[in-house]
Amino acid sequence: MKNKLGLVSLVLWVLTVGVFAFFFVRGTTSVSTDKRRSVNLSPIEKDLVLGEMRTMLKAINGMLGALSDGDMNKAAEAATSAGMAMAVDASPILMAKLPLDFKELGMGTHKAFDDLSSEIKKGATLPKVLVKMHQITNRCIACHETNRLGFIVPKLEGPSALFAFHRWDLPTGIGINGKNRHD
Ligand code: HEC
Repeated sequence: MKNKLGLVSLVLWVLTVGVFAFFFVRGTTSVSTDKRRSVNLSPIEKDLVLGEMRTMLKAINGMLGALSDGDMNKAAEAATSAGMAMAVDASPILMAKLPLDFKELGMGTHKAFDDLSSEIKKGATLPKVLVKMHQITNRCIACHETNRLGFIVPKLEGPSALFAFHRWDLPTGIGINGKNRHD
């Protein structure tokens, strides 16, 4: 009896870890209308990731501005603004939804900003900095080429659809039940 219980808990444990590992590697994805992989998040999680994206664009812009002024300190500062420290303090649930290669590419990009910042502080020359910035923007392109973000509206049918009101459904309404949205 005791052994059986032990076995049951072991099986449950393996299942739980297995399911988590499965999602951790694969994330929650589907194929989007333009054939890219759609990483499907909740609307709030999507806003979080897009906010992070805009910070990275701002960092690149800040760096270019500072470099054209010859202000290396400011360029290093701009690079740090997109470093690991700003990486979303992501919940385990969001982390599980992002496919493994997406996490690696994303985290690697933040790290590349930090590395570049310290190289600038150590006196890297402008051409060297530009080479590194080119490598960073290659990462942006690589990820955008294959990924987009979507969210799943819960499947609601019949009368429940008419009455369902989720705070995060408000901007789009409920006409697209059960489908992925990519906007
Ligand atoms: C690991 C993947 C990944 C990397 C790396 C990445 N992005 Fe993104 N980014 C995305 C995805 C996915 C979207 C959503 C695109 C879509 O749904 O069409 C996005 C959207 C954006 C947006 C739009 C934001 C908005 O508010 O709509 C900007 C700007 C952006 N990225 C800038 C960048 C810059 C700059 C870099 C590089 C420094 C970068 N991204 C690197 C995945 C990535």
